[in-house]
Amino acid sequence: MTFVIVRNLRLDTGVTESVVPTAPLPAQRPYRWVAVPLVVFALVSLTAGLLAAHDPRSKGYFRLFFSDPIHLKAGFATVAAALACFQLFTAAWIFKKLPWQKPAWVNPVHRWSGRLAFLFTLPVAYHCIFKLGFQDPSTRVLVHSLLGCAFFGAFAAKVTIVRMHRFPRLVLPLAGGLLFAVLIGVWYTSAVWLYRRAAPPVPAAAAPNVVPADAHPAAGRSVFASAGCASCHTLRAAGAGGQIGPNLDRLRPTYAVVLAKVENGGGGMPSFRGQLSPQQIKDVAAFVSTTAGAP
Ligand code: HEC
Repeated sequence: MTFVIVRNLRLDTGVTESVVPTAPLPAQRPYRWVAVPLVVFALVSLTAGLLAAHDPRSKGYFRLFFSDPIHLKAGFATVAAALACFQLFTAAWIFKKLPWQKPAWVNPVHRWSGRLAFLFTLPVAYHCIFKLGFQDPSTRVLVHSLLGCAFFGAFAAKVTIVRMHRFPRLVLPLAGGLLFAVLIGVWYTSAVWLYRRAAPPVPAAAAPNVVPADAHPAAGRSVFASAGCASCHTLRAAGAGGQIGPNLDRLRPTYAVVLAKVENGGGGMPSFRGQLSPQQIKDVAAFVSTTAGAP
């Protein structure tokens, strides 16, 4: 009891430690302790990156009521980003940066909305790390991959700082702000990009599909399977559910478009000129352009 009183006394009056030597307040940690969360950040980020160091694995993934797993991920990431904004708001309240008195519920609500935000990132991260893997076909994807790894590092570092207590005043808000910025960056390079990109596909009628007589869709079916198109593309007619490249059923590309893309590659898709014969490329183009979008 006396302990509590002395503590309060010291807090309220600013009496120095020499006056109440019996109950010193736990001192603030020296700045060198910041190395601990920094090491945690580095280790966890690195672990995420190493776990993701593999080629894309094309297995199914749940999609709930979304059109496909990618839209599910974007939806979850958006919820996490919204919760993160709420985190920032309640944190500002906790740090007395808002004009209103802080009610008692702000701290627990801050904690629980943070936990919820983290939960929403988990199914997304699982798909990124264990299905897609670390990738760098374009700046966006590279930045997204790097930020994705850094997110878990920053999260672990921030939790470490909260749990260890007594860091210098600036450390926690800095770590929290960094975590927020990284999450928004991850979200911006994925969900925002996806929502912007999702323009309606060109209607099939606008571009008639001309398939030459010497291109055989039936032969193209096995080319599609053996060349590995299925690991990156969704095409119902081939039973393919890849998520790396565009959904071919939705895109419904013409023969000429598939032919050019398979020959030249680009934008994250490899060229197949060396791997497939010209006849095989014709066949697969005929197969894709005649079956894409079929129910
Ligand atoms: C390693 C993954 C990967 C593989 C394997 C792959 N693609 Fe792609 N594909 C992509 C990506 C990524 C894009 C998007 C490229 C872009 O945006 O420019 C794409 C785009 C396409 C397009 C759209 C072209 C356009 O101009 O809109 C077609 C058609 C296509 N691929 C067909 C195929 C076929 C057929 C195969 C098998 C022979 C194949 N892809 C194999 C990743 C892949």
